[in-house]
Amino acid sequence: MPIAHCLLSHSLLTTSHSHLFPIFTKNKSLQIIDPQAEAYASQFTSAEEALLQEIAASTQAVHPHAHMLSGHVQGKFLEMISSLLQPRRILEIGTFTGYSALCLAKGLLNDGKLHTIELREQDVTLARANFSRSNAAGKIILHEGNALDIIPQLQETWDLVFIDADKVNYINYYQLVFPMVRSGGVILADNVLFHGQVLESRQGGITGKNAKAIQAFNEYIQQDGSVDKVLLTIRDGLLMIRKK
Ligand SMILES: C[S@@+](CC[C@H](N)C(=O)[O-])C[C@H]1O[C@@H](n2cnc3c(N)ncnc32)[C@H](O)[C@@H]1O
Repeated sequence: MPIAHCLLSHSLLTTSHSHLFPIFTKNKSLQIIDPQAEAYASQFTSAEEALLQEIAASTQAVHPHAHMLSGHVQGKFLEMISSLLQPRRILEIGTFTGYSALCLAKGLLNDGKLHTIELREQDVTLARANFSRSNAAGKIILHEGNALDIIPQLQETWDLVFIDADKVNYINYYQLVFPMVRSGGVILADNVLFHGQVLESRQGGITGKNAKAIQAFNEYIQQDGSVDKVLLTIRDGLLMIRKK
């Protein structure tokens, strides 16, 4: 059954079955994880620090695309992976207002640096202001411009990469960064469930441009024998890729 039909059927279901189906939130976007499960996960995750709470709240207040921000649980996961890896060099593609960069920066070694790239001037301004309020400000290098142009200019060996910009370029970003990722390094790619739209590949076809690009990316990684991977159903889907 096409996912849209599932969703129509779902509106007739009782809440006791809601965990089985993707659901519409009040803004009509498709939320793939049950909000009750997300709330429960948040409750049993280390508390979100004050600065991150403030960035989330101010982004929500002023930004029309506030839903793009990683948020509490995914942010803690990014921090956890970074703290376990203890990276010297992190690359983030898609800064937005800086929330995820600040989470990732928490695991950096003392002499470590995080490079983050943002295309939109307004987001660069917001991110820069948010970084300046953090102890990690001196470790974060914010690049304004198109990641496709900037990545080749960065002569670094990456321990950790977070891909979270325009979906149609995920494969391009992966191909650009992969030679510069050390063996044992980790690439995380966000939104790999793309609001549930990729699930339509099992139902007869994906139509959206971004969902198609994400599906192509997931298939590309699946056939790449030089990496281990696990697709995590955190938020909108997070693909964790480790270079062998
Ligand atoms: C999903 S948001 C990033 C969210 C952020 N990582 C977080 O979790 O808080 C994606 C960002 O990528 C930026 N972006 C889109 N295309 C880009 C490109 N070609 N180069 C650099 N940034 C780009 C957008 O302007 C947007 O701010």
